Amino acid sequence: MAIAVQLNNVTKNYGITAAVQNISLTIEKGTTVAILGPNGAGKTTTISMMLGLLEPTSGDVRLFEKNPKEIVVREKIGAMLQDVSLIDKLKVHEVIKLFRSYYKNPLSIEELVEITGLEPEDLTKWATKLSGGQRRRVAFALALAGNPDLVFLDEPTVGLDVTARRKFWEKIDILKASGKTIIFSTHYLEEADDVAERIILFNKGEIIADGKPAEIKQKFRRSTISFQTDNPDALPKLKALPNVLDCYMEEERICIITEETDAVLETIYKENFIPKDMQIEHGRLEEVFEHLTSNQGEVS
Ligand SMILES: Nc1ncnc2c1ncn2[C@@H]1O[C@H](COP(=O)(O)OP(=O)(O)OP(=O)(O)O)[C@@H](O)[C@H]1O
Ligand SMILES: [Mg+2]
Repeated sequence: MAIAVQLNNVTKNYGITAAVQNISLTIEKGTTVAILGPNGAGKTTTISMMLGLLEPTSGDVRLFEKNPKEIVVREKIGAMLQDVSLIDKLKVHEVIKLFRSYYKNPLSIEELVEITGLEPEDLTKWATKLSGGQRRRVAFALALAGNPDLVFLDEPTVGLDVTARRKFWEKIDILKASGKTIIFSTHYLEEADDVAERIILFNKGEIIADGKPAEIKQKFRRSTISFQTDNPDALPKLKALPNVLDCYMEEERICIITEETDAVLETIYKENFIPKDMQIEHGRLEEVFEHLTSNQGEVS
């Protein structure tokens, strides 16, 4: 499989802040990858290094097996950055024309309007006088102006309303189907899950999980088993089990957090704890995400 992006032992420090710590990854051409993580996780820093806008403190970044700064590479990439700054004193169609002029085979303005959902009347507005959502759309058009093979989108849906967000992802589906490599960052687990075929989960500058959405969910899916019992040995015995992540009393019930529900249930019955009013709850994905990003040590 041809490689679009490769990072080898990449670190970025800002003074004493370690923004990205020794990450390595390979992204194949034609895939859609979500970089998921909370504020300050290192997503923008990583994307900026992939784009060649920021030099790593150490390590190596390659796009299409070349330096990201090479012209032949630049011609193949487009980006929508987190802080959208549109050029002052230009109208929207002028900014788009300017960006198109940087590329050999740009998309036509009509195609860009169609793909990005810009309204034709937006084209004649001053770029600085657009609403937040309209600015995002122009930024999206600028990212796609050169008909790039590889598209970076740093939190593309921030500030978009629900309808605009849905429409945006529909457009991304079209780009995906045309074989482009798409790398986007997001805070939203659901968005990553719906859109990406691979999720790279960042936290505190490190990659804490990387895989297909289903694999990540499977890997970190946790359940809570709770029951009442009169057996005083139950709590300490359950606490000591290797597949129990946490075990505590709450409202006179024993609560057990585990990734291996069946194995824990087997023990409960084998040990004859005589459980009453047993309840099993499967963790929601949001909880898994919160757990991952707040207790990094436990999952690595
Ligand atoms: N220019 C800078 N100077 C100093 N520190 C920086 C700079 N840019 C980012 N940082 C720090 O590096 C870390 C990673 O920041 P980064 O912007 O990559 O996070 P992020 O995952 O994109 O977060 P967000 O979801 O808020 O956009 C943070 O601790 C941040 O404070
Ligand atoms: Mg960011």
